[in-house]
Amino acid sequence: MNAPNKSGWKPEMGPGGDNGACASRPMTSSGDAALALEEPLIFELAGAGKCGVDFDEEPGELSPALAKFARKSAVDLPGLTEPETVRHYTRLSRQNYAIDLGPFPLGSCTMKHNPRLNEAMARLPGFADVHPLQPMDTVQGAFEVIEQLAEWLCKLTGMEAVAMSPKAGAHGELCGILAMRAALEARGDAREVVLVPESAHGTNPATAAFAGYRVENIPATKDGRVDLDALKGRLGPDVAGVMITNPNTCGLFERDMKAISDAVHAAGGLVYCDGANFNAIVGKVRPGDLGVDAMHINLHKTFSTPHGGGGPGSGPVVLSERLAPFAPIPFVRRDEKGRLRMVEERGAKDLLPQTFGRMTAFHGQMGMFTRALTYMLSHGVDGLRQVAEDAVLNANYILRSLETDLDAPFADAGPCMHEALFSDDNLPDGFSTLDLAKGLIDEGFHPMTIYFPLVVHGAMLIEPTETESKQGLDRFIASMKSLASRARDGDESLKSAPHFAPRRRLDETRAARKPVLTYKGEGVPPGTPSLSEIGGS
Ligand SMILES: Cc1ncc(COP(=O)(O)O)c(C=O)c1O
Repeated sequence: MNAPNKSGWKPEMGPGGDNGACASRPMTSSGDAALALEEPLIFELAGAGKCGVDFDEEPGELSPALAKFARKSAVDLPGLTEPETVRHYTRLSRQNYAIDLGPFPLGSCTMKHNPRLNEAMARLPGFADVHPLQPMDTVQGAFEVIEQLAEWLCKLTGMEAVAMSPKAGAHGELCGILAMRAALEARGDAREVVLVPESAHGTNPATAAFAGYRVENIPATKDGRVDLDALKGRLGPDVAGVMITNPNTCGLFERDMKAISDAVHAAGGLVYCDGANFNAIVGKVRPGDLGVDAMHINLHKTFSTPHGGGGPGSGPVVLSERLAPFAPIPFVRRDEKGRLRMVEERGAKDLLPQTFGRMTAFHGQMGMFTRALTYMLSHGVDGLRQVAEDAVLNANYILRSLETDLDAPFADAGPCMHEALFSDDNLPDGFSTLDLAKGLIDEGFHPMTIYFPLVVHGAMLIEPTETESKQGLDRFIASMKSLASRARDGDESLKSAPHFAPRRRLDETRAARKPVLTYKGEGVPPGTPSLSEIGGS
């Protein structure tokens, strides 16, 4: 492998410097290693007097009213030609892992399949360039997308109404809880407690607490589902409602959902369902039939918009007949002439007098609405059901293929839904979930979700996505088996993986807590830990 070529050049393996570069890179005469370059900042690449764009106009005279805002010094833009700029960003993109390079096995709110057709539709100027303050007659097409999407969401969930504007799953949770509070207050029965199962996504208790409720935990049974008896035992006149994720964060369907809803309703409470995992049951079960009063849908998960690194998100909330009168503004409605209108405070006085109020400044995420509707129309109801079935099939293939290599705590609880959960229970001492996740990077995969849900020790939550082929799943399974077997054999090198990525293993806490996000051209800011300090080598 390390043999001289015809010209006598022999690659040497470099030691890897304190820049964190991979230790196994060859040293070359240029100092670069194959294509895995350490990429400088764009300012460091720039040279004076170069420009990648042509400005065809000289700036005119500034109006005296604006003179005080005139810039005093030149903008310090980096000088690069167009190809230099394109190469810089392309090189950066090659250091990243992307859905277009391979699977993202992240469980819970993961990156999904993002068909190119969605992107083409979302980029149509009538959708992409729409402005929230445009006259309503000029945005009838955009409103129609919102109206049609709302109709699909109500039909698929069996619910009465939908609030389209929440900007993410957690934002949708807040919207649902506020509607629940408004409904309870309207009947003069403000209550104090929201019950949340211990396996809940962290946003659930956070939302209930943010809305002013005291949060109380409901334990899970040993098969990973809500303990119905414990829940029934806690219901009472102080309980405003429950927040339950279904399918839950252990990847299991809450089979008792209808019994839970009936018990909560009988005790005068309301039922919030976290629908972030709706992609496992869409077209199979309607949450409205299970007694759910409010549920957010993560469009960015179930209906395909790319998601990750913090956004964009969209979390419409479907509402039962009980909660529909308390939905937020703004919302889209057809007037008597058949034109679509955005209804704000003034219009809501007549159309929705009990609204809990304003949820967002404008109407929601147009790009995501367009992508979601495109996805629905291109799949049809049968296609969406097939998506859910394939997601569940893929996750069960992973569960059954790996249950002899890794501990699968709920493997006996029946088939999993769209994600398979493993724990670190049968990893040998000294090896952890983190080692397997980092080892996956060397294998060419994005790691799975780790250490969540908290109910399982050293959790590995793997969501394969419905579009992964059997060959792709087999490759992933083979990598996981090989990593588990390296841990069993005591392979110490696994503890310092990844070895072949642009960065070695870092102290993630320090890297996350002390990120250096600004560059002032003066070198590294004082106090910044060096890579070797945070474990990079
Ligand atoms: C089960 C569950 N609930 C809620 C959320 C919150 O969604 P978002 O990240 O869009 O706020 C997520 C995603 O992280 C999730 O997986």
